[in-house]
Amino acid sequence: MASFPSLFLLLSLAFLLSSHCNAKRSTSTHHRHPRSASHNYRDALTKSLIFFEGQRSGKLPPNQRITWRKDSGLSDGAAMHVDLVGGYYDAGDNVKFGFPMAFTTTMLSWSVIEFGGLMKGELQHAKEAIKWATDYLLKATVHPDTIYVQVGDAGKDHACWERPEDMDTPRSVIKIDKNTPGTEVAAETAAALAAASLVFRRSDPNYSKVLARRAIRVFEFADKHRGAYSNGLRHYVCPYYCDFSGFQDELLWGAAWLHRATRNPTYLSYIKANGQTLGADETDNTFGWDNKHVGARILISKAYLVQNVQPLHDYKSHADNFICSLLPGTPYSSAQYTRGGLLFKMNDSNMQYVTSTSFLLVTYAKYLTTSHRVVNCGGATITPKRLRSFAKKQVDYLLGDNPMKMSFMVGYGSRYPVRIHHRGSSLPSVSVHPSKIQCSSGFSVMSSQSPNPNILTGAVVGGPDQNDRFPDQRDDYEQSEPATYINAPLVGALAYLAHSFGQL
Ligand SMILES: *[C@@H]1O[C@H](CO)[C@@H](O)[C@H](O)[C@H]1NC(C)=O
Ligand SMILES: *[C@@H]1O[C@H](CO)[C@@H](O)[C@H](O)[C@H]1NC(C)=O
Repeated sequence: MASFPSLFLLLSLAFLLSSHCNAKRSTSTHHRHPRSASHNYRDALTKSLIFFEGQRSGKLPPNQRITWRKDSGLSDGAAMHVDLVGGYYDAGDNVKFGFPMAFTTTMLSWSVIEFGGLMKGELQHAKEAIKWATDYLLKATVHPDTIYVQVGDAGKDHACWERPEDMDTPRSVIKIDKNTPGTEVAAETAAALAAASLVFRRSDPNYSKVLARRAIRVFEFADKHRGAYSNGLRHYVCPYYCDFSGFQDELLWGAAWLHRATRNPTYLSYIKANGQTLGADETDNTFGWDNKHVGARILISKAYLVQNVQPLHDYKSHADNFICSLLPGTPYSSAQYTRGGLLFKMNDSNMQYVTSTSFLLVTYAKYLTTSHRVVNCGGATITPKRLRSFAKKQVDYLLGDNPMKMSFMVGYGSRYPVRIHHRGSSLPSVSVHPSKIQCSSGFSVMSSQSPNPNILTGAVVGGPDQNDRFPDQRDDYEQSEPATYINAPLVGALAYLAHSFGQL
């Protein structure tokens, strides 16, 4: 642990270094857009999408914008004689975990479905980010009743600090099938494919149909062969992406996406018949890669509010209950906030809940506005405007309006994390240091105090602790690691804010 004076010196150094990095980039937008007025949400949106290019696995295309990254994982799948090249590394390691990758895809797709019309030049980048995932998910689901849910041996991977381009730990392929079911990961994969099919409906109708057809097949498999992958594959997927919330939430969420994507009444009947047993009125208001209960409620509420599907009218009150449990100062509020005002759910990667909750708020506000409704929390009337300003406050905290006066998005603003927990970002790039860096040699860099040499633009880290503190230490994966599922819902929230509050 650093003592106070040295911590202070380190922070000052971090500030100087990050200012220096900023000075090297074009700062034209900053001149036009003084920080005091409002945040530059459009700049943040652009960066939030660039981040996904830094997480790419496989053969990188010529228009790759994070150029310090190179091809990697080109034989992924070979262990099971299947092509599993591509997809995303979930966070600061080099494993491809199917469960969070699918959730990331669902949330990127939902962001485009609701706010793609406001993304302007970034819409194309958002679609590319989705397609990078769905091309992979189509490979992972190519065989009926089988899903390849992971590439890489998580234990061995985490025992190394290696660039993805160098990695030499086993690229073990983990699958689920009828004998080893994984309802949570299968249903989330179905949700991702269905949501993405809506994104490409007009621009690429063939691709959209392929995705929708696959989603139907995968959901059927998920529902028919019930069981948690956290049981059958515990040794491989836990403690990394072990499913703690059960698979009921993913079944409801998956059915909701299938309903939305296919308009097939089968899924409406499914939701009506099973909603209650699948936890439609569950009280946990955590929304992230593990727990989708409140996401499913907001999504299903749209069918009632916007499309007037009467049999789903209960979902308006299920969604309202979520809102009432969340907003501070209302009778049923139960959520925790830091003194600086940040929603605080967990020590580990808390910012994912901030971004996902902010997305749900601006999305529900949209549905309420369309249907001329409000939320009633024990007598207090909550307007869509209140939901939006609450979401804006959370995002503004993330971007710099906080006691640390720093942004938690790498490359945004004048001060941001410089020692993120990310192998590729922290080790010298392949261009700078072409020879291989062995598994354990990387750890001297990991434990050093030097700033990361490669800027993972747009990466949002786990964020401050419950006292609004952020030590910016590379070994602190709880606070300093970025992840695809932190950024994915932020893309939608930023698109909304850029449109409504941006000044560009
Ligand atoms: C439709 O899309 C799939 C998946 O990308 C592709 O394999 C197939 O060749 C496409 N078919 C046509 C007719 O374009
Ligand atoms: C979170 O961190 C605080 C402060 O370090 C600690 O007291 C608490 O036990 C932690 N909570 C969990 C769930 O680990």
